[in-house]
Amino acid sequence: MFVDTKSSCRILDTFTYTYDEKLDYTKKAVAENKILSFITMGDPALYGMVGGLIDRFEKNDIAFEIIPGVNAAIASSAVLKRGLTGMGVTNTFVCTSYNNHDKSRKNLEKIAALGCTVSVFMGIDNLKEIIDIFAAYRSKQTPIAIVSNATWHNEKIIHGNLGNIMDIFNHDKVEGGLILIGDFLNKEYDYDLERQFIEMKKKEVKK
Ligand SMILES: C[S@@+](CC[C@H](N)C(=O)[O-])C[C@H]1O[C@@H](n2cnc3c(N)ncnc32)[C@H](O)[C@@H]1O
Repeated sequence: MFVDTKSSCRILDTFTYTYDEKLDYTKKAVAENKILSFITMGDPALYGMVGGLIDRFEKNDIAFEIIPGVNAAIASSAVLKRGLTGMGVTNTFVCTSYNNHDKSRKNLEKIAALGCTVSVFMGIDNLKEIIDIFAAYRSKQTPIAIVSNATWHNEKIIHGNLGNIMDIFNHDKVEGGLILIGDFLNKEYDYDLERQFIEMKKKEVKK
């Protein structure tokens, strides 16, 4: 990862430290009056370090600030130029992750049945299983996008549907990324609903 820092700054790889080791390191830095930043991809609250660190910092009276980021689903929506929700499309958007354990499968089945916009984090290695679960609940024509490295120089996007995405993916492989599933990818906004909503709002303003 490229990080633009002062030469006096020390950079460590957080993946090589347990949470308790991160805490010990933080305590030492605080005692030396140093500023420590934990940098994570996207937003730290979503499959990030926030949980494990907040608990430990609060219990140890260590002052901290969380700077929000743009999570991969929101970044992907921007690069796909599609709203994750929309009038007549869906008003529900789910972030989930998948591993091939029973509990994860059952959860994903419930989510697939909702028919809403779904983003699956850390799911590429189990893409086939994820597709099979969705295909049991949604039409084979349901669109899918796989966005790899959204907003980075090596960004790559694969488009398909539940029926053909495995063939496209096997031909056009990407390393890692976010799986986005739902009609939001190709369904038209409902202009009638939008007009009704605007008229209702206008009436409210007049009152
Ligand atoms: C440990 S999670 C971190 C999520 C991150 N905290 C966020 O807010 O997006 C890692 C997963 O996030 C997704 N991801 C993170 N950055 C991404 C990007 N730039 N493009 C697409 N997917 C990304 C991938 O599904 C990846 O396996």
